[in-house]
Amino acid sequence: MLGNFVYSNPTKLYFGEDSLKYLSEELPKYGKTVQLIYGGGSIKKNGIYDQVIKLLKTNGKIVIEDGGVMPNPTVEKLMEGVQIARENQVDFLLAVGGGSCCDYAKAVSVSVHCNEDPWEKYYIRFEEPDCEIVPVGCVLTMVGTGSEMNGGAVITNHEQKLKIGHVFGDNVMPKFAVLNPKFTFTVPKYQMASGIYDIFNHICEQYFSGKDDNTSDYISEALMKSVIHSSRIALQNSEDYEARSNIMWTATWALNTLIAQGKATDWMVHMLGQSVGAYTDAAHGMTLAAVSLAYYRYICPYGLSKFRRFAVNVWDVEENGKTDEQIAAEGLSCMENWMKELGLVMNLRELGVMEEMLNGIADGTFIMEGGYKILNHDEVLDILKDSM
Ligand code: NZQ
Ligand code: ZN
Repeated sequence: MLGNFVYSNPTKLYFGEDSLKYLSEELPKYGKTVQLIYGGGSIKKNGIYDQVIKLLKTNGKIVIEDGGVMPNPTVEKLMEGVQIARENQVDFLLAVGGGSCCDYAKAVSVSVHCNEDPWEKYYIRFEEPDCEIVPVGCVLTMVGTGSEMNGGAVITNHEQKLKIGHVFGDNVMPKFAVLNPKFTFTVPKYQMASGIYDIFNHICEQYFSGKDDNTSDYISEALMKSVIHSSRIALQNSEDYEARSNIMWTATWALNTLIAQGKATDWMVHMLGQSVGAYTDAAHGMTLAAVSLAYYRYICPYGLSKFRRFAVNVWDVEENGKTDEQIAAEGLSCMENWMKELGLVMNLRELGVMEEMLNGIADGTFIMEGGYKILNHDEVLDILKDSM
């Protein structure tokens, strides 16, 4: 049942190969000093950095550089960014990169004027910001997380072996996001595949919950079909504009709260994957891929009618003469074959996980309650073992 809800998404999107020029419409709305957030250097190699700097200068901004945001940004880097922002009294945070840069910018935005330890406040106690928030904008260069149009900000604490996401509200979401599919052409294949699976799994996390006849599920099925179709084209030709633009657009809609309406939502694959990430620092989408099949095969009997629907509506599995169990299993096999086509990591061992880590990974896995089966610690451990 859809129930009662208020729907709003404050992020303005500029989409297409000409979209970067709209920075000149957005930048004048904010103060003079801009913290330019980017990663390990890809934007310098592919020329995006030069284009952004030119527009910042044209708009009379003072640019404070904050590069070196690593994939899976750490709490130490967060504190470094906060210090840069405080020392330079920055007015605006412009993230140019993938989900890591965008998440990091949001985490900095709620921490600059916060008098408490942001890790403790936002990631351990899950409190909401009660201080001034520095506005964030985003130029997306890697597709998958949906961070460009949501409030999520995932931070890793290696010392505590925890990777945790806080989903902040409308006031923390990017004010705008520039989505130019051509900016994603230089993303290495491994990262592209990781991002594609991240998109697909975001949809699954929302789809595999509830037993209602829900509009969100029909939208989800269409988004899943689009990802599967376009991923196969992008795999052959990473510069196919149509495929890359479809993937980019799908990623945004996969995790900007639209398809969560009326859904309990599951998120257990993400909880498992994040805990794996805290131990391995592996690419986010690959941590999800490594645990997905073991998880879905385990919960399939508890949500059989939905897994059957998934098989038929998403994977075009023939229904005639088969039991519901056979149809559902065939759907998951189709998903497995597609994952292999993409070259995804299909087990935890490949990510460097060893048997002796599994207990710790299980301990660091948050148990969610919106899916078809609320897992206990032993079940989490069994799923991790099956993922080896
Ligand atoms: O650092 P640089 O040099 O820029 O290289 C990056 C990085 O190595 C590279 N890259 C990005 N754009 C490129 C490029 N290389 C060449 N050409 C380009 N155009 O790609 C690598 C990965 O980038 P990253 O930003 O880490 O990837 P992703 O977008 O997958 O973000 C991952 C982070 O987002 C979190 C993940 O947990 C992880 O920490 N998530 C955020 C979510 C949210 N906000 O809602 C939800 C997700 O489920 C996820 O948890
Ligand atoms: Zn994800």
